[in-house]
Amino acid sequence: MPEISPAGKDTLRIREMTIDDFPVVFHIGEEVFTAESFQSLYRTWDEYEITTLFNSDNELCLVAEAGGKILGFALGTTVTKHNSPWKYGYLVWVGVRRNIQQVGVGSRLFKEIKHRMKVQGVRMMIIDTSADNQPAIHFFQKQGFGDIQEHVYMSLNLSRKATKKPVKRP
Ligand SMILES: CC(C)(COP(=O)(O)OP(=O)(O)OC[C@H]1O[C@@H](n2cnc3c(N)ncnc32)[C@H](O)[C@@H]1OP(=O)(O)O)[C@@H](O)C(=O)NCCC(=O)NCCS
Repeated sequence: MPEISPAGKDTLRIREMTIDDFPVVFHIGEEVFTAESFQSLYRTWDEYEITTLFNSDNELCLVAEAGGKILGFALGTTVTKHNSPWKYGYLVWVGVRRNIQQVGVGSRLFKEIKHRMKVQGVRMMIIDTSADNQPAIHFFQKQGFGDIQEHVYMSLNLSRKATKKPVKRP
């Protein structure tokens, strides 16, 4: 694994992801998007996340590379809403190999994707993550995100038999 010291950040290169990078990006995602931090199914990491975002917004699919090794990635897209003139930039996934976190790789990826979104006319960036993913929340706050809004996810297990309520006798 190449050494990325804060002093040596310049050895790090951010570039667009290519098809050849898919397997390594997929495996880094498997390593960092664990079931504990991404419990809801809408946030399941799989190969379609990579291929779908690559097909729609390949300019917003970036990898961080040093010494010929991919250390992390950021995958985003842009969203326009029916009743809003604003274009939104949605940073869908950002992940950095566990053993190289907290030395600035994520920030470099973020800086580049933010720049690219701005060039594409984005006026507001959005992200989402689990409420208990504190490292990510700190990371996004450090990048300037605020106005945290909570969202509730509920589930209904359809394979469980409904329990009959006892009939009340008069
Ligand atoms: C979130 C993530 C991408 C950050 O990448 P990174 O390369 O470690 O981030 P950086 O080194 O650029 O950190 C920038 C700032 O983020 C904050 N931060 C990063 N990791 C943190 C941690 N584990 N705990 C607390 N704050 C953290 C710090 O404020 C840090 O600034 P500082 O070093 O000056 O204190 C990385 O932790 C990760 O891959 N996490 C798992 C996947 C995930 O949760 N992704 C986000 C949702 S899609």
